[in-house]
Amino acid sequence: MADAEFKNIIVTGAAGFIGSNFAHWVVDNQPDVHVTVLDALTYAGNRENLAGIPEKRLTFVHGDICDGPLVDELFKRADACVHFAAESHNDNSIANPAPFLRTNVEGTYTLLEAAHRHGTRFHHISTDEVYGDLALDDPARFTEETPYRPSSPYSSTKASSDMLVRAWVRTYGVKATISNCSNNYGPRQHIEKFIPRQITNILCGIRPKLYGDGLNVRDWIHTEDHSSAVWEILTRGRIGETYLIGADGERSNIDVLRSILAAMGKEPDDFDWVRDRPGHDRRYAIDSTKLRTELGWLPKHTDFAEGLAATIAWYADNEAWWRGAKEATEAKYAAQGQ
Ligand code: NAD
Ligand code: TYD
Repeated sequence: MADAEFKNIIVTGAAGFIGSNFAHWVVDNQPDVHVTVLDALTYAGNRENLAGIPEKRLTFVHGDICDGPLVDELFKRADACVHFAAESHNDNSIANPAPFLRTNVEGTYTLLEAAHRHGTRFHHISTDEVYGDLALDDPARFTEETPYRPSSPYSSTKASSDMLVRAWVRTYGVKATISNCSNNYGPRQHIEKFIPRQITNILCGIRPKLYGDGLNVRDWIHTEDHSSAVWEILTRGRIGETYLIGADGERSNIDVLRSILAAMGKEPDDFDWVRDRPGHDRRYAIDSTKLRTELGWLPKHTDFAEGLAATIAWYADNEAWWRGAKEATEAKYAAQGQ
């Protein structure tokens, strides 16, 4: 499908980290596309994340993806929906799973029903965490054929939402695709997440916190590369297919933390070891051959040190964006021994 066929796309969750980066990417790269954002502005959503987008390119709707009549109204006028909205943080899902079931499962169901009624193209954003984890010494990486084996309340609700999408494709013929991406980094990520938490800790004079033995591996991708991959799948992906998105960015948590410490002028041991996360997945790793060979996608941000330096600079330059959430975020972690 040519890019031009989509004139009005709904982007759910675009006041959050990855969704807002996607909305900016679309506005910057697709001049004929209007973006309608549907976002409930939870603790993770911030209207400011869409600042700078011209008014004529964006409609912001403050609402819940579980609100069937509202969702139905928006789908009447849209050609496509890219669905980012979710409860997204593993540690929160361990402390209180209920909002994860509601937003990630019931919310996705509500959107799928509207996509079915209106024949709307639907792209579902998911995570590599649905596949569970790999051992550190396992040469394997996740592919589209890897069996689902989620470990946490967060990843199990994302896995459930993927299953709903597949069922709605097969049973009702909904024109949907799914992408499962690895860990994102970049500007506007909530400071509860690993990289921004450590950067803002250092900026505040707090020692960074490393879970367990620090050897867990995540496969890092810059959020802008996630955006370009999603656009390729939305416009050129095969209906009913799943595509894994990753940029060959495997790194242990301790390596990432030491890179942050070095870039911010700290000593390699200027951090605290803290209690491990229950059920902590050991390693994630993505094989994105299908996306690269079928759709010709390639990541641009392949220099992690450079992307990390730019991310550190963003948090240093945008203290007003995160300062208000810092105390409460750290108090919540402290209460969990983390
Ligand atoms: P985020 O927590 O930063 O943002 C989530 C957004 O969804 C917020 O703006 C929030 O207000 C909104 N939202 C939450 N509940 C809602 C509801 N009921 N109705 C409407 N809006 C609601 O999340 P993120 O890190 O940007 O993740 C976005 C998507 O990408 C999620 O689906 C997540 O599973 C997926 N994903 C994230 C990563 C990662 O590294 N963060 C990796 C792969 C996939
Ligand atoms: P996180 O950003 O929560 O992403 P995910 O759980 O989706 O991978 O955490 C990334 C990794 O960093 C994960 O292995 C847990 C670890 N971690 C820490 O060591 N310290 C921290 O303060 C946080 C928030 C995470």
